[in-house]
Amino acid sequence: MNATINLENKHFPVLLNELVSIISPLYGGTFIDCTFGSGGYSEKILEYSKNKVIAIDRDKDVLVYANNLKNYYEERFLFHHLKFSEINKIRDKNIKGVIFDLGYSTNQIKDLRKGLSFDAKGKLNMRMGINDFSCHEVISKMNEENLNLIFKFYGDERFSKKIAHKIVIERKKKVLKTEDLAKIIESVKKNYNPRVNKSTKIFQSLRIFVNKEISELINGLINAFNILPLGGIIAVVTFHSLEDKIVKFFFKNYSEIKSSSRYMPENKKNNLYFNIRKKKPITPSPTEMKKNPSSRSAKLRYGIKIKNNCDFIELKKKFKYLLDIEQLGSDL
Ligand SMILES: C[S@@+](CC[C@H](N)C(=O)[O-])C[C@H]1O[C@@H](n2cnc3c(N)ncnc32)[C@H](O)[C@@H]1O
Repeated sequence: MNATINLENKHFPVLLNELVSIISPLYGGTFIDCTFGSGGYSEKILEYSKNKVIAIDRDKDVLVYANNLKNYYEERFLFHHLKFSEINKIRDKNIKGVIFDLGYSTNQIKDLRKGLSFDAKGKLNMRMGINDFSCHEVISKMNEENLNLIFKFYGDERFSKKIAHKIVIERKKKVLKTEDLAKIIESVKKNYNPRVNKSTKIFQSLRIFVNKEISELINGLINAFNILPLGGIIAVVTFHSLEDKIVKFFFKNYSEIKSSSRYMPENKKNNLYFNIRKKKPITPSPTEMKKNPSSRSAKLRYGIKIKNNCDFIELKKKFKYLLDIEQLGSDL
């Protein structure tokens, strides 16, 4: 029986079977679903009668799905409207796993009020929930140099400088809306013929900036590690290279002996906090990609916690340049 069968327009959960097969050996305990969405992962985990799920989402629009699971699974399901960087607020003695399915859901992209899609019209938004500012403030107030940094480092956009320059010129004439931003990008990249939509990279960079996705991810992973008992699992699904780079480093750097030099201090040699079964990420099968083409860039990485008390200094240092860009929003 399926608890949410009557709710339409649900997000299609990616790599669901793969995720369940890696966590199922830990069956019988509490799993934290950090990115509840329309509850595809939560619901699957709850199908095992000894499991409990504590779900988190920053978007309060998902409450309709959360209430539905609550009615059905009662005390085995709890929902918190929180950002996942605040996962350390959750208390449970029996946590077996923490799951992240990063990015936005199809429900969010289809909700044109959120302005996450280039098809949206009207005031720039891009807030997923619990934000300090929207994309409107970024595009109307931020100086050219800082806009360029956001587009370059969060979007890997070749035309970042030109686009930032054009935005600053155009916003003197009128308040820029979502459709105006898309037109500006189109005009700068007129003769450029990429396979993906010309606005993809700029929209992605602004979404990352508005939602502070870099610090959310880094702090979310660190706090997940801190609340997880030994033997628990952290599993993360990423959708673009920037987030995958962070997740890959998080697991790889803290699961490998970095040098075999006999002169290296013993405590450094044994800096192993995760047991990683697979070095390569798990990716969707050809059948899944055919059924759900937007799953094609998904990557699932996971690790089992084997040691406590990690300071994660190398992780924070390595991605400081991305965290620093987030600070540009503190004056908005
Ligand atoms: C890809 S969807 C998850 C879909 C879900 N696995 C399902 O099966 O329906 C990502 C969800 O995570 C939420 N989200 C993104 N960043 C978040 C954050 N920092 N804290 C809490 N929720 C977040 C979004 O609001 C969205 O609902």
